[in-house]
Amino acid sequence: MAGDEKIAVLDFGAQYTQLIARRIREMSVYSEILPPNTSVAALLQGGYRGVVLSGGPSSVYENGAPLPSSQLFEAGIPVLGICYGMQAMGYLLGGDVVPSERREYGKAEIELTGRSPLFEGVRPDAGDRLQVWMSHGDTVRRPPAGFSSLGSTTNCPVAAMADERRRLYAVQFHPEVAHTPQGGTILSNFLDLCGVKRDWSMPSFIETTIDAIRARVGSDRVLCALSGGVDSSVVALLVHRAIGDQLTCMFVDNGLLRKGEAEAVVHTFRDNFKINLDHVDATSRFLEALRDVTDPEVKRKRIGAEFIAVFEDEAKRLGHIPWLAQGTLYPDVIESVSFKGPSATIKTHHNVGGLPENMTFKLLEPLRELFKDEVRRVGEVLGLPADIVWRQPFPGPGLAVRVLGDVTAERLDVLREADAIVQEEIRAAGLERELWQAFAVLLPVRTVGVMGDFRTYANVVALRAVTSQDAMTADWARLPYDLLGRISNRIINEVHGVNRVAYDISSKPPATIEWE
Ligand code: XMP
Repeated sequence: MAGDEKIAVLDFGAQYTQLIARRIREMSVYSEILPPNTSVAALLQGGYRGVVLSGGPSSVYENGAPLPSSQLFEAGIPVLGICYGMQAMGYLLGGDVVPSERREYGKAEIELTGRSPLFEGVRPDAGDRLQVWMSHGDTVRRPPAGFSSLGSTTNCPVAAMADERRRLYAVQFHPEVAHTPQGGTILSNFLDLCGVKRDWSMPSFIETTIDAIRARVGSDRVLCALSGGVDSSVVALLVHRAIGDQLTCMFVDNGLLRKGEAEAVVHTFRDNFKINLDHVDATSRFLEALRDVTDPEVKRKRIGAEFIAVFEDEAKRLGHIPWLAQGTLYPDVIESVSFKGPSATIKTHHNVGGLPENMTFKLLEPLRELFKDEVRRVGEVLGLPADIVWRQPFPGPGLAVRVLGDVTAERLDVLREADAIVQEEIRAAGLERELWQAFAVLLPVRTVGVMGDFRTYANVVALRAVTSQDAMTADWARLPYDLLGRISNRIINEVHGVNRVAYDISSKPPATIEWE
């Protein structure tokens, strides 16, 4: 789907692995992260034009350390080892790899002593020295036979090495991070050494993906479960571009969405994009399933099970559809294959939208090679409205895990109104893209207040706004006081049944982003 000209990045677990793939893609070459034990045969058959060995937390001489097959170095394709990748190359080819006298983290300067096309166009910053970013505990003391050393730091006798004949290259530092200012040139030189074509771009990705979908699906029908989030929306648009009316999108309205969301999905996809949209209003089914349920995990299970039941009923009604299009992304894919990379620690939640086990669809996952921001870019190119492209994450169980305790139609309405004010004010303040999430939570307690001459005894709404990179950790957002004041005033004045607003100042961990 991504063309033949690509580079493999074998993931040994460094926090920067994804960044390597990103940098290479930014140079218009498609790059894919693969498990460290990917066989040489698979790499050759996959048509990879070069292989990067990522960094990682292990030591090569440790028991069970992940290592590539040493045949990789005889396979005739260029290899670039980065950090642990360099140590693995040095170790497997008979060099001398030892613990550093001092572990080295952060900025360092390399004295360039050798010449190599890998450093073509790289200009030392001062004298013969090049500024780089290091993060390692082991070091190559003596390069393997056939290699020459290209430079050293005070701590690291061989900071880069190359065997030009076999096109094997290695650097102890991290060329992929911004703190190695000329790292981009080094990676770009490696791509030149691989002889790979630089023709990967979003429009070309979209074109080849559309062609591939047409070729795979033929005249079959395809079903796509649309949630209104960016991933399923982009999948729907791509598949629609490819096969038009052969696509049916099923939008299950579980009654747990935010204000105006269901209407917006119907309007965008049915009216604007003219996609066959099956809008299933299952509000009452979900409310029934949630009746008297207060435990958060039971809520999630009930909602998941109800989704499956609705999906099954509806799919039967739609007749035989052999294909299911899904918005699986790259992090979801590598999560399941990574050795112990950063990917292994991402995300713990199951999405509601898991499918009935007894239903057998052929799967179409056109986004499985993309990162989230690349999916957004595809969405933009396909003309998806900005409010969907930039939507903040929203949990599958929706407002049910934000109405703490009993979920009733009335309480959902109160939360929906309060949340709409939060969304409006955050957008007006221009903070929507800066925040990972901002939302309202309806608490299961009532407090005393006074309105005019009357005593009130009404609901409390909690505000939650967090910044985060990946939802694994999050910090409460330092929202301006004026904004907090405005949101609080508006909620108390405009939402019937709320007389108090509190701001959640807990970080994750130990709190979580959602309250349930
Ligand atoms: P927590 O609350 O665990 O949430 O800090 C981390 C991220 O996951 C979202 N979230 C969910 N997403 N199904 C989902 O699809 C769920 O059950 C679920 N629970 C939490 C949450 O909104 C945040 O972005």
